[in-house]
Amino acid sequence: MVVRGRRRRHGRRPGVEDRWLREADPDRREFHLSLGCAVETLRIAAGRFGLACRVVTPPSGPVVARVEVGPGGNPHRDVALFDRITERYTDHRPFRWTPVPTPVVERVRDEVADFDVSLRLVREERPKRAIAELQAAADRAQMGSEAYRRELGRWIGNGALGDSWPFARVGRAAVTHLNVGGREARRNAALIESAPAVAVLSTADDDRGSRVAAGRAFQRVALVASAAGLAVHPMSQILERPARRETLRGLLDLDARPQHLFRLGFADGSRRHTPRWPAEAVTVDGGATAGEE
Ligand SMILES: Cc1cc2nc3c(=O)[nH]c(=O)nc-3n(C[C@H](O)[C@H](O)[C@H](O)COP(=O)(O)O)c2cc1C
Repeated sequence: MVVRGRRRRHGRRPGVEDRWLREADPDRREFHLSLGCAVETLRIAAGRFGLACRVVTPPSGPVVARVEVGPGGNPHRDVALFDRITERYTDHRPFRWTPVPTPVVERVRDEVADFDVSLRLVREERPKRAIAELQAAADRAQMGSEAYRRELGRWIGNGALGDSWPFARVGRAAVTHLNVGGREARRNAALIESAPAVAVLSTADDDRGSRVAAGRAFQRVALVASAAGLAVHPMSQILERPARRETLRGLLDLDARPQHLFRLGFADGSRRHTPRWPAEAVTVDGGATAGEE
């Protein structure tokens, strides 16, 4: 399977590239992280059926990741994670003030280490408050941009965010035409402060392959969390502009480059799953190619 990141020129169907959020994610960091999540899901599924996978991430060019599938996998290795693929979800609600159990923290650390990704778990009040303030500033700035609001409004309008995203509940028209940044800033800052842990994944390099690796690591963390009854909630706004990424890096005194930030904790109530694209909505070419040329 080949995951591409560039546009097919002729007779195109909507594909991976159409899901790139140009305003929110101008440097494609989240785009490549998301492809990493998809690649890892595929690898876990292949492993479950006894197939081995080799993942190759060319440093440049239209192919972001190539997953070579062949015989020889260990069907038992990831069986528990496979069972969580359809169960895992993003929870946008406040989390319970119950600490993340130590065995879960240890397992999560092991998972990310396999990808050369480092994990910082922020559990103390003061740095969490500083992150919350940074999040609020990011929300206010992003939502102050008409182009950003228009992009968000489009995604709300096509139903892709489901109804569990707070934005989706505010509605397309409101997001597109009103500056609801103050409201989002207050809400998101409170979500961060209330979470027992805020996690930041970082990589030594800031290239495409590192971002795919961070996405793969995150997908495993999300599945491990789900297996332990915990929820995750990525919050990307701080990382969407270079200056705030650097501020976060300084704030946490990180050696590496922050790639992904998410809340980790226990949520109450039922799981709310975001609707999925139909399989035909993802371009398939040459047997199993997701994406475009
Ligand atoms: C790279 C990446 C960045 C994300 N950033 C955000 C975010 O800033 N805010 C948010 O609420 N969810 C964020 N999410 C979660 C997605 O919105 C969520 O995964 C998607 O809506 C599908 O829902 P599900 O995780 O429940 O399956 C992010 C996910 C990924 C992979």
